[in-house]
Amino acid sequence: MRSSSAEGNNEFMVDGVPISEVLSLHRTPFYLYSASRIRANLERLQTNLPGFDIFYSFKANPNLRICKILRELGAGADVSSRGELAAALRVGFDVGDIAFVGPGKSDDEIQQAITHGIFAIVVESTDELRLVDRLARRIGRNVRVLLRINTLEEPISPEMMVGGPSKFGFDEETLIDDVRMINLKNVQIEGIHVYSASQVLDADLIAKHIDYVADLALRVADGLGFDLKCVDFGGGFGVPYGDGEPLDLNVIREAAFRARDLLKQRACRLIFELGRYIVAEAGIFVTRVLWVKQSRGENFVITDGGMNHFSRPVVMRVSHPIGILNKLKEPADVACNVTGPICTPIDVSGRNIRLPRPEPGDIIGIFNAGAYGYTMSMLNFMSLGLPAEIMIDGGKIEVVRKAREASSMFDDQPL
Ligand SMILES: Cc1ncc(COP(=O)(O)O)c(C=O)c1O
Repeated sequence: MRSSSAEGNNEFMVDGVPISEVLSLHRTPFYLYSASRIRANLERLQTNLPGFDIFYSFKANPNLRICKILRELGAGADVSSRGELAAALRVGFDVGDIAFVGPGKSDDEIQQAITHGIFAIVVESTDELRLVDRLARRIGRNVRVLLRINTLEEPISPEMMVGGPSKFGFDEETLIDDVRMINLKNVQIEGIHVYSASQVLDADLIAKHIDYVADLALRVADGLGFDLKCVDFGGGFGVPYGDGEPLDLNVIREAAFRARDLLKQRACRLIFELGRYIVAEAGIFVTRVLWVKQSRGENFVITDGGMNHFSRPVVMRVSHPIGILNKLKEPADVACNVTGPICTPIDVSGRNIRLPRPEPGDIIGIFNAGAYGYTMSMLNFMSLGLPAEIMIDGGKIEVVRKAREASSMFDDQPL
């Protein structure tokens, strides 16, 4: 959702709804999502990757309405905490379509996963494998697990999770020897899982990863002597935050088909688990300009929503596209620093970006805020209340998470 305006219109619209209509009902700051964009993103993946299940990674945005939309379209759920597991169950995901991955699962989380009988627990170490087996025996269930592997792949993105020393997964080179030593009673190893990196924008590198994982799955299954029934390729499909090109799914599709062919004899469930690709571009963080001030030759646009409510630009040091949503047709010829109201100099959402001449009352949109937005932010900082999450679906404006007034932020604390 970079910029969408009716012909000749100066104001931003989401799926035919002008931003002024949303603002007449809701106070800034808020997150604004396009349901049609979320659906289109998932459907593009499903169309391009037939034979693969797409599991939605809740960590990108666990808003229940978003998860429900994705479930209705046939996505599975990739969860990494008991909260995300509870959300997936509440939204109605079939337990057979839920996988639990994460390097720091608690006993309680593993027990819940076993008790609910989810599709798979993705195990990350020999100690975890032993624990899952022990807990499954105690509960009296059999459990399907996938082995998460810290491969020897070359870096494919700045946000790498494999390739070096890592808290994620079994080291590829010692996996077979380590796992072979373990006598499992209630655990069936049925596959592997490799999530190597996030925000990968080079389709050739993702293709290389897919080839690597398909080959590795066969080697591991044969080395450990288990029946290969599932391969989770991870994903990490990126979205451009600046002017970059969107990911070329054709290249990824070709690799996915190669993997599918290679694994054909094994009748495997093939999975990609993706968050950002599905939701990032479907969300905007919307704020209002409070002050415009000049200081020593620079313009500061101070808005009512900062790093507390949308931390990603600051924490991950990413420049999100930013625009003035009520001045779409005006020339962006003023260099500005867009900040929030937070009392720290790092509270800058956009540095030295060009905007139409900003004025108090203007509406700022920070684009590509649908993934790792609300959920990744430091929402309590400076006690400014919590922003709403609003969705446009079929022309209707719906609150999918209520705002919380600043005045109620201390209601849960005794004096
Ligand atoms: C194991 C795992 N799966 C899936 C994801 C989702 O990644 P993305 O939002 O980049 O698709 C992550 C993100 O950190 C992850 O760690």
